[in-house]
Amino acid sequence: MSNPQAETTPTATDTVVYTVKDGVAWVSFNRPAKRNAMNPALNRRMMEVLDELEFRDDVGLLVLRGEGTAWSAGMDLKEYFRDVESQGLGGVRKAQRESYGWWRRLRWYQKTTIAMVHGWCFGGGYGPLFACDLAFCADEAQFGLSEINWGILPGGGATKVATTLMPMRTAMYHALMGENLDGQAAARAGLVNESLPLDRLEARVTEVAHKLLQKNWTTLKATKDAVRRVMEMTYDSAEDYLVRAQEAANSFDGEGRKEGIRQFIDEKSYKPGLGHYDKSKKV
Ligand code: COA
Repeated sequence: MSNPQAETTPTATDTVVYTVKDGVAWVSFNRPAKRNAMNPALNRRMMEVLDELEFRDDVGLLVLRGEGTAWSAGMDLKEYFRDVESQGLGGVRKAQRESYGWWRRLRWYQKTTIAMVHGWCFGGGYGPLFACDLAFCADEAQFGLSEINWGILPGGGATKVATTLMPMRTAMYHALMGENLDGQAAARAGLVNESLPLDRLEARVTEVAHKLLQKNWTTLKATKDAVRRVMEMTYDSAEDYLVRAQEAANSFDGEGRKEGIRQFIDEKSYKPGLGHYDKSKKV
């Protein structure tokens, strides 16, 4: 898949390209000749790109996509594994920090994130897939924990992603068999939110992105963090965390919540159960 909106002409050394349009940062893995396998150069560049975009006022949401036929064929077997291993333990740990680092950054990103998977998504690709808040794919996409096929376990978080998103038996079969899931199967298994025909994928992602952009961005960040955090908490801990997280969000955007209440209770201009309040109105 090409990114027709890209402002920059990708070069062979541009491992990541992006453009910003109507509040959305469209960020692409850009090693199509290598099926967007993640090498150390790409991992370092992706962290820089996330830095560049995170607090831009004109960026409310980030979509992660891939150039060419792949979303990402996972870690680069030559440059991330073989070449790095020849540098010894220090080289291995450095490369791990660089890749795990930008996935972690993406998991807790300030803006809402969507993975738009149109083609191959293997192994290490599950890290950024899970890091994105939402994921949409094409029916033509292929998802696989291919590690078993070349002799390692699904590391770099991939096993955790599989067991977090899928029931145990499904995750176990997926990890042991090394068989791929197409888009529809991936949606049924829980790896993505929805799968749809390739020619409708970008339009659907754009539609979801623009709906999200109309909501309160501070609240979106508080909500996405809350979903990830409470997954690992007891009920009581979650209850307590949510009280404090909302109070912290109020300190950054307390007026937003009051305005949302005002438009419903006083102005009667919308119903929270049916849509969002109008952010452009100020009391
Ligand atoms: N690491 C390093 N190089 C990779 C790669 C990876 N993960 N995935 C693809 N490439 C390279 C190939 O070596 C080839 O390079 P070359 O042109 O210099 O020979 C190029 O990308 C194109 O790959 P090719 O296999 O010819 O493309 P394809 O479209 O026929 O098949 C895949 C695509 C993704 C099915 C296949 O490349 C593949 O199985 N890749 C490995 C996937 C994997 O196991 N990833 C897990 C890593 S944790």
